[in-house]
Amino acid sequence: MSAEPQKTFYLETFGCQMNAHDSEKVIGTLVSEGYQQVPTVEEAGLVLYNTCSIRDKAEQKVFNRLNDYKKLLKQGKKFGVLGCVAQQEGEKIFGRAPYVSLVCGSASYRKLPEMLIQIEAGKRATGLDDRQTDECFETEFTARTNPHRGYITIIEGCDKFCAYCVVPFTRGKERSRGSDSVLAEARQMADLGYTEIQLLGQNVNSYRDPAGKRTFAELLAAVGETPGIRRVRFTTSHPRDFGRDIIEAIDAVPALCDHVHLPVQSGSNNVLDAMQRLYSLDQYLERIAWMKAARREISITSDMIVGFPGETEADFEATLALLDEVGYDSVFGFKYSPRPNTPSLKLEDAIPDEEKVRRLSVLNEKQREIQKKGNQRHLGQTLEVMVEGQNSARGQWVGRTSQNKVFNFTAAEGRVPSIGSYTSVLATVCLPNSLVGEMVV
Ligand code: SAH
Ligand code: SF4
Ligand code: F3S
Repeated sequence: MSAEPQKTFYLETFGCQMNAHDSEKVIGTLVSEGYQQVPTVEEAGLVLYNTCSIRDKAEQKVFNRLNDYKKLLKQGKKFGVLGCVAQQEGEKIFGRAPYVSLVCGSASYRKLPEMLIQIEAGKRATGLDDRQTDECFETEFTARTNPHRGYITIIEGCDKFCAYCVVPFTRGKERSRGSDSVLAEARQMADLGYTEIQLLGQNVNSYRDPAGKRTFAELLAAVGETPGIRRVRFTTSHPRDFGRDIIEAIDAVPALCDHVHLPVQSGSNNVLDAMQRLYSLDQYLERIAWMKAARREISITSDMIVGFPGETEADFEATLALLDEVGYDSVFGFKYSPRPNTPSLKLEDAIPDEEKVRRLSVLNEKQREIQKKGNQRHLGQTLEVMVEGQNSARGQWVGRTSQNKVFNFTAAEGRVPSIGSYTSVLATVCLPNSLVGEMVV
C-alpha cells in the first residue's frame, strides 16, 4: 500500500498582531495534525486566509483574493476563511464564494482539528462561537516565525464597544488568560532563546487574572523579570483602563521597553463622546503626564481616526493641537470607515471621502514635521538595538531600539552582528521615521 500523500496548506494573514499570532498557533495546530505548510497557493491542497475587517478596504482584500483563485478550484484545492471577516460574515461567505469549505472565527480555533476532518471528508465546516464563549485559544503547538522575539496573548476579545469598531463583534467578549500560564510560556520562550516578548490583547489594560493573583502591571513586571528576557512590549492600551502602576512597573523593571502605544482617536471631547471612548481629553492628558514624568524617557505613539460622523473642522483642529501638545513619536492615522454591526453605523457618514482624505493628509504631514524635529533629540546618543536584519544593498544592518525606533546602521570594521543580538549604535542622522548610525565597539 502506498503512503498517503502529504496534506499541504498555504496561509496568508491580514490585520493586527493578534491575527499574526493566531496564525502562528493555527500553523502549529495544522502541523500537529499532519499538514505541511507550503509557501505558495499553487503547491497547497488547503488555502487559508486569516482575515481582518477593521476597515472596509481590509475586508475587501479577502474577497479579492478568493476571486483571484477561483480558477484553482478545478485543481481540487480547498479554501478556508479564518479570523474577523469569517466571524462577521459567517455562512454568508459560502453564498458569496461557494467554493469555500471552512469559515471559522478566532473564538473557535480550538475546534480546528475536528473541522479539518470534516472538510477533508468533502463537507463544509463552520466555527462561529460568538460573544458567549469563555474559551481562550491556548495551544502547545505555536509555530513562532521569529526565533528571537515572540508574542504571547494575555487577553482575547473586547468589551469596550467603541462606536466605530467591529472588534467586539468579531473577537467576542473579553477573557483573560491565567497569569501563571502566561509566565510559564514566558519562561519556556526564554529557555528556547527568546529575548523579547510582546504581550498582546485588544485592550491589555483590562486584563483580569482569573486566579486573581496579579494585576496587569504585576504581570508585566513578572514577565520582565524572567531570566533571559531583555525586552518586553505590550499592546494595545486603552486610556480608560491605563493605570499609573504601569508606568511604575516600567520605572522599576529595566526589561520593560520605554514605549507606550496609547490610541486616543481624537483630540476633541465632542468626538470622543460620540465615539463612546469613555474618557475625556483631560483624562487622556493626565496619562500622558504620567509617562512624561517617568524616570526613563518613554516614547509615545497613538492611533487617530479622522472624519468620524459629525467631526467639525474645529474638532479636527483640536486633534492637530493634540499632536503638538503630546509630541508623539509616531501616529497611525485612519479615515473613518463605517463597519457592520457597529453603533456609529446609525450615524450619517456625512463627511465626503475627499474631505477625509484631506484631513488625513494634513494630519500625516503635521505629524511628520513633529517626528522630524522630535527625533533630533537622538542625535549623538548611543542606543542599544536588537539586530533584526540586514539590508545588503545598502551595506547596512537594521535594528530596533527599546523605544521601538528603527535604526539602520553600519557595522564596525570586521564585525558581523548576528540577527537577534543586541549592540550599541551611535545615531549620526535622525530622520522622521528612522535613525541612521554606526555600531560602537
Ligand atoms: N484595540 C485597539 C485597536 C484596535 S483597531 C484600541 O482600542 O486602540 C486599531 C485602530 O484601528 C484603532 O485604534 C482605530 O484607530 C482604527 N479603527 C478601528 N475601527 C475603525 C474604523 N471603523 N474606521 C477607521 N479606523 C478604525
Ligand atoms: Fe475596538 Fe475600542 Fe475595543 Fe479597541 S477598545 S478593540 S477600538 S472597541
Ligand atoms: Fe483586524 Fe480583527 Fe485585528 S478586525 S485589526 S484582525 S482584531
